[in-house]
Amino acid sequence: MAVSADSARILVASNRGPVSYGLLPGGGLDAKRGGGGLVSGLSAIGSDASTLWVCAALGEGDREAARRAGTGTLDPEDTGGQRVRMLDIPAQTHAAAYNGIANSVLWFVHHLLYQTPVEPAFGPEFREQWAAYEAYNRAFAEALAAEAAEGAAVLVQDYHLALVPGLLRALRPDLRISHFTHTPWAPPDYFRLLPDDIAAQLLSGLLGADRLGFLTKRWAGAFMDCAQSVLGAERAGGAELSYDGRRTAIGVYGLGADAEFLRERAHRTDVDDRLGALREQIGQPDRKTIVRVDRTELSKNIVRGLLAYRQLLLDHPEWTGRVVHIAFAYPSRQDLAVYREYTASVRALADEINEQFGTVGWTPVVLHVEDDFARSLAAYRLADVALVNPIRDGMNLVAKEVPVVSDAGVALVLSREAGAYEELGEDALPVNPYDVSATARALHDALMMPPSERAERSKRLAAAATALPPQRWFLDQLEALGG
Ligand code: G6P
Repeated sequence: MAVSADSARILVASNRGPVSYGLLPGGGLDAKRGGGGLVSGLSAIGSDASTLWVCAALGEGDREAARRAGTGTLDPEDTGGQRVRMLDIPAQTHAAAYNGIANSVLWFVHHLLYQTPVEPAFGPEFREQWAAYEAYNRAFAEALAAEAAEGAAVLVQDYHLALVPGLLRALRPDLRISHFTHTPWAPPDYFRLLPDDIAAQLLSGLLGADRLGFLTKRWAGAFMDCAQSVLGAERAGGAELSYDGRRTAIGVYGLGADAEFLRERAHRTDVDDRLGALREQIGQPDRKTIVRVDRTELSKNIVRGLLAYRQLLLDHPEWTGRVVHIAFAYPSRQDLAVYREYTASVRALADEINEQFGTVGWTPVVLHVEDDFARSLAAYRLADVALVNPIRDGMNLVAKEVPVVSDAGVALVLSREAGAYEELGEDALPVNPYDVSATARALHDALMMPPSERAERSKRLAAAATALPPQRWFLDQLEALGG
């Protein structure tokens, strides 16, 4: 394949890129930079001409931007200087791949979310969506193959793009390819819910990479178990798999909070303003706060979190009027009915608790659903207790961010099924996310923790949470790939 003179030496590929565009009424485009650990980690890719980030156009604004850029890159002013190419994949293909396969199948499998007596039911509709997933992965592989210089390093991200390593290797055997999984990985018995050919295709697609990365040892181990059990891949040495005449190295790269960015951002005036507004909403200054901040995501376990809070108020009436649960549940994947229903049940339960226990001057649950990063940081700063109780989570950055930003130290109630638990478990209060009563007890213990112990633990949590800055996460992987 011909490689052009300005081809890239380091490439990143992900479904969601570092920028998204809104379409303005006059036809103009309004660029918005994404936030979060992934974007800051991948931003370490740098902004010179030898790097390129390939992502998908996600809405009409993105599509228009992609069309205007053609096969070129986007305006560097919009992307913070990075070279970014957005792929204009047909909307229907993208929707079937993203909503149908990535979010409704792969996400569900790795987070153990199926209600198995009735789902999944893999029939013709699934096969159509799978064909779209293949086409969408092929579009990425072809774009990367066209853009990469001889021997370039290509870092592919997440379950959206599981087939890219294999497809890309077939097109460009000279490239050094890695893939990173940001979610958990399912254990073999659960992974084998997938049709046999699909399970095999996913695993062999990933094993087309030279290196595979996971957030924790547990997820890396589960992947190796699946590859052995489904494909008959063999363990060659401690952290290598041998399959189809090739070897793939398996690595663990934890992702930490970006301390410098968070501490600076959390003390700007917009955060101070929101802190004031939240304090007013909470009421009396000596009321304690239990804070949670999540996407309204099935795996985040928001409903059981609210049930545990209700249990706390029932078991410990002494907290009546003395605690407020601040729950931020920001909209996510609202194209999927099951997410819309989940959002409705979160709201209904919060209302129910407020009706059952609320008094004049005391609202037990303050629920906000409009995404507001500055307000999230304000809540982090004032939290006495942070509740992070996912059913299962690749890492969970909220658990890491709150101690970093907290003003007076925070007690962290943390699910042992979150990847972050491997690093923070010692100083958090661990919970089984399904055990509502135990979660209620952990909330009580967290509220009762003496201030000096809380401050000490919080300091240690912040140190553990920032031990692996996001830039390091990226650079370590690049180095391992020989980049
Ligand atoms: C979470 C997961 C990532 C995933 C992202 C996709 O942040 O940890 O693994 O890539 O969600 O979210 P989206 O909104 O793009 O579906």
